[in-house]
Amino acid sequence: MSMDILVKGGILPDGTQADIAIAKGRFTAVEPGIASDAGRIIDATGKLVTQPFVDAHFHMDATLSYGRPRINASGTLLEGIALWRELKQVQTREEIIARALDYCRQAIGKGILAIRSHVDVTDQSFATVEALLEVRDHVRGVLDLQLVAFPQDGWFRAPGAEAQVIRALDAGVDVVGGIPHFERTMADGTASVRAACELAADRGLRVDLHCDESDDPNSRHIETLAAETLRCGLQGRVAGSHLTSMHSMDNYYVAKLLPLIAEADVAAIPNPLINITLQGRMDSYPKRRGMTRVPELRAAGVTVAFGQDCVRDPWYPLGSGDMLDVAHMGLHVGLMTAPDEMRAAFEMVTETPARIMGLDFGLSPGKRGSLVVLDAPDPVEALRLRPARLAVISDGRIVSTTRPAEVTVDTGF
Ligand code: FE2
Repeated sequence: MSMDILVKGGILPDGTQADIAIAKGRFTAVEPGIASDAGRIIDATGKLVTQPFVDAHFHMDATLSYGRPRINASGTLLEGIALWRELKQVQTREEIIARALDYCRQAIGKGILAIRSHVDVTDQSFATVEALLEVRDHVRGVLDLQLVAFPQDGWFRAPGAEAQVIRALDAGVDVVGGIPHFERTMADGTASVRAACELAADRGLRVDLHCDESDDPNSRHIETLAAETLRCGLQGRVAGSHLTSMHSMDNYYVAKLLPLIAEADVAAIPNPLINITLQGRMDSYPKRRGMTRVPELRAAGVTVAFGQDCVRDPWYPLGSGDMLDVAHMGLHVGLMTAPDEMRAAFEMVTETPARIMGLDFGLSPGKRGSLVVLDAPDPVEALRLRPARLAVISDGRIVSTTRPAEVTVDTGF
């Protein structure tokens, strides 16, 4: 069999062992005992081989800016938005590009090969959009960067924001964004959801809104998003990011809401690292966790992926580009410690976000030749240890290798 790379002896996420042959950027065979004439053989014996990590929710225009021009003292979403406004006034296009590329390299080393990044379009200079379009071109062929036209300061609240969303889409941004809970009134929030869905339907695009990122149980824009998805015929192309208010809603209302979201085939993208640190800030004790109802959404048949959202930016001082950290936090906050739930948490940072973004990843013949070899035997051990990504292959090219750290313990017992 003619091939460029053979990954030998790896264990797939479902526990089966297989060799994987890659030729001309695609998988040509995934089965045990492939005889090799490959130019390059990777010995993955006993190691987990997975499709790439995918981050379905990120902000690449703000990443790695922590401390500039100051830190977020209150730790709240609203101070983060105010701080980002200050940063927008001083950061240059070149600075955004340099930070973004720096982050992309870190993320690729952790096995992330696709990112959906929201990009703030309310900056009148358009520097953020131009910068990220340039970054998208720069990383093409290694990392799939999907951009969302995100009116951070509000679709209607920020003067000219709607026109800026359209301008960004005209310039090549991929997905329609929004932030209904940040509009001045509930009515404006509702109108912004409608406008976003109509715009996406007109242009044949996907929608991904920051939706109900709030502890207010009356923030119910997800209901409108699901209804508008059905009205506009956008089933399967819409995501609601965050949905934190659902944590605080009463069960009776949620019992009606979940089937509506499932009927509309609207995906949910909670961001556990950020939800657990931005929400509950105005509570005394008990403090709410703020993450949306992940097990209940999944049980209702809703597609749920975990996103990362932030790495060292106005909203979050930590983050390392490691989707295993994200899933680790998500399964803790969601109390998802049963074996099948932990395996689901792994899927929620690999297979599920790829599906939401419409990507052709997967470990089967004919799919894109993109995979990650981890220094762990299975998904649950990967979540526990968050081990080295021994090899990262993107479309048939080895783009990163990591040698595991060597530890010598000599205690005498
Ligand atoms: Fe976000």
